[in-house]
Amino acid sequence: MTEAVLYSLSGNVAVLTVNNPPVNALGQAVRQGLIEGLTRANADTAAQAIVIVGGGRTFIAGADIREFGKPPQAPDLNSVLSAIEASAKPVVAAIHGTALGGGLEVALACHWRAAVPSAQVGLPEVKLGILPGAGGTQRLPRLVGPQMALEMITSGNPIPAKKALDVGVVDHVADGDVTAVGVAFAAQVVAEKRPVSLVSQRNEKVSNVDPALFEAFRKGMEKKAKGFFSPWRCVDAVEAACTLPFAEGLQRERELFMQCMQSPQRAAQIHAFFAEREAGKIPGLPADVKPKAIKSAAVLGAGTMGGGIAMNFANAGIPVKILEVSQEALARGLGVIEKNYATSVQRGSMKQEAMDRAMKLISGTQRYEDIGDADIVVEAVFEEMGVKKEVFKKLDTIMKPGAVLATNTSTLDIDEIAASTKRPQDVIGTHFFSPANVMKLLENVRGKASSPETIATVMQLGKTLRKVPVLAGNCDGFIGNRMLAGYLREANFLLEEGASPAQVDNALEAFGLAMGPFRMSDLAGLDVGWRIRKGKAHLRPKDERYSPVADRLCEQGRFGQKTGAGFYKYEGRNATPDPVVEEIILASAKEQGIQRRSISDEEIVQRCMYPLVNEGALILEEGIAIRSSDIDITYLFGYGFPVYRGGPMFWAEQIGLDKVLATIREFHKVHGKAWTPAPLLVRCAEAGTGWPKG
Ligand SMILES: NC(=O)c1ccc[n+]([C@@H]2O[C@H](COP(=O)([O-])OP(=O)(O)OC[C@H]3O[C@@H](n4cnc5c(N)ncnc54)[C@H](O)[C@@H]3O)[C@@H](O)[C@H]2O)c1
Repeated sequence: MTEAVLYSLSGNVAVLTVNNPPVNALGQAVRQGLIEGLTRANADTAAQAIVIVGGGRTFIAGADIREFGKPPQAPDLNSVLSAIEASAKPVVAAIHGTALGGGLEVALACHWRAAVPSAQVGLPEVKLGILPGAGGTQRLPRLVGPQMALEMITSGNPIPAKKALDVGVVDHVADGDVTAVGVAFAAQVVAEKRPVSLVSQRNEKVSNVDPALFEAFRKGMEKKAKGFFSPWRCVDAVEAACTLPFAEGLQRERELFMQCMQSPQRAAQIHAFFAEREAGKIPGLPADVKPKAIKSAAVLGAGTMGGGIAMNFANAGIPVKILEVSQEALARGLGVIEKNYATSVQRGSMKQEAMDRAMKLISGTQRYEDIGDADIVVEAVFEEMGVKKEVFKKLDTIMKPGAVLATNTSTLDIDEIAASTKRPQDVIGTHFFSPANVMKLLENVRGKASSPETIATVMQLGKTLRKVPVLAGNCDGFIGNRMLAGYLREANFLLEEGASPAQVDNALEAFGLAMGPFRMSDLAGLDVGWRIRKGKAHLRPKDERYSPVADRLCEQGRFGQKTGAGFYKYEGRNATPDPVVEEIILASAKEQGIQRRSISDEEIVQRCMYPLVNEGALILEEGIAIRSSDIDITYLFGYGFPVYRGGPMFWAEQIGLDKVLATIREFHKVHGKAWTPAPLLVRCAEAGTGWPKG
């Protein structure tokens, strides 16, 4: 026996305990160990049944990600499953923690499944761009029917034990030690002489299924699964389970699995998966640096961002005080928070008790003295350097020593803000995205004086708040908004050159962005950018092309959705094209002598997306981002970039950096300086490599 699977006897039941911490991943040693354990148990005259259980905190939680991309090592998972099914003695899976992916596929091959109430089961493969490739798509529908199997396999979301029992994934749920639960159930199976029934041979639920069920399911997932590859193949595989005998269904599953493996979407989703883990690693932080404990928080400003940020703390169980300048602003801010929670309760995504608990953790004040003992304060007041400095000066005098002083600024210089305190080592940027209670990205921005401990604290805070933290360096716009500048610039230029706001938005939404630039700007409010542009107008070189369209919309009071008009006119949230906007665009083109032409969707995508890549290369070379995948994470979680394209930097690699560079050079010739290729892009493209690995 390998040490990865331990053998023991409990009465007349052989127990195979998977021993591969931390999550009992199905590595080669575990697969081998399971086969050996089954052989030994079948030969053991003292054993009449077999239990497979996970040691430690979970059942088998899935495939071993360390084996991803490596040549397969025997035995493969299907051989393990065949050995389980072929066992002459009944095999019971005893599930605690999670049985996910290959873990659940092992359980599905067992003759019975027992679980403790806290266990969860699921097939999350779709989230990595693949499908369950070891019989999951063929066995699960045989247990739960096609509809439920489709829901589980295409969402990838796990279900709790109680539900698993109701729908038929597991046969038995009981409280107690999981091995004891499994052994008792196995002993019962033996005592009752229950006949062994293989899931693969149960055809009742997959016979005579109306094909319309699959068509309806495909139709229902059109919006959510648009652009993805594997969800559609998951449906094909479940359909195969309902139309083919088991062995042929398995073959079909294999073919579909291989198609997923070869898809660019799979490569992108795997990249995103590893990029997210990688983003948490900060090179150069001394190994002994520990994040400070955050047990209480304060937020300055109860506006759009402050309210959402406070909700994040409360959702994580951390008490938070919000400080505002007036009672009125405070009441308004707290009112919005309450309304947001109430909407979640109404929609069923939050329980009333959870809302009550969160609301109890949030309080308001107008007095700085009340927040002095918080472990962290996040400032979210107006975006003006003068105001920020004043606020930080004040914080310096009242916050307890060692408290983290964080700013949610989207553009301002962290070092300048830090310099208004006597403790710049404790000052750092924590850039949340709007709506702050929803968006997953937390772009942490280190100043030159931010201490390793402060950095470690806000990176850990991101995880505590269930965000995806990325560490950026201090520059205008940091990672995300700095890249966005070129994207928005080109989107606006395209209007003058001949495209309409709807054409630009539609082309980029077809590319996969959650929302095109103009619908997004209208939603965020055009006045925000207008104010920033006015502030920086004196810095703009006179010979640089500039589109005044957005400014002119603002001059007419068109601030976007909130005023009922921006790049579109609005009825509620419904955007429709507006001839007034077209007039403004035409006038602007005429003034600049721009010959309008018909513009292809392909050009729109390249003109708007390649600035992200080019600026990304500068950001990478300057060290503003630690690694190219951090830039991808920023765009995936903060800017609605489609995960099936992996992020702008990965996407560029998939196209080929040489091809991207060639197009950028073309644009450079036509549109001038803004398209100067980034030196790093040139070097990588000419060397025929991808981006440097961080
Ligand atoms: N709105 C966004 O999409 C977004 C996204 C990321 C970051 N940010 C940044 O977050 C910060 C806040 O932006 P917002 O959109 O929430 O602004 P907002 O105008 O909605 O809210 C600012 C709040 O701060 C309060 N305030 C002003 N001065 C204060 C002071 N001295 N003490 C306490 N409260 C004070 C105001 O009364 C107001 O309620 C800005 O730095 C902004 O750049 C905004």
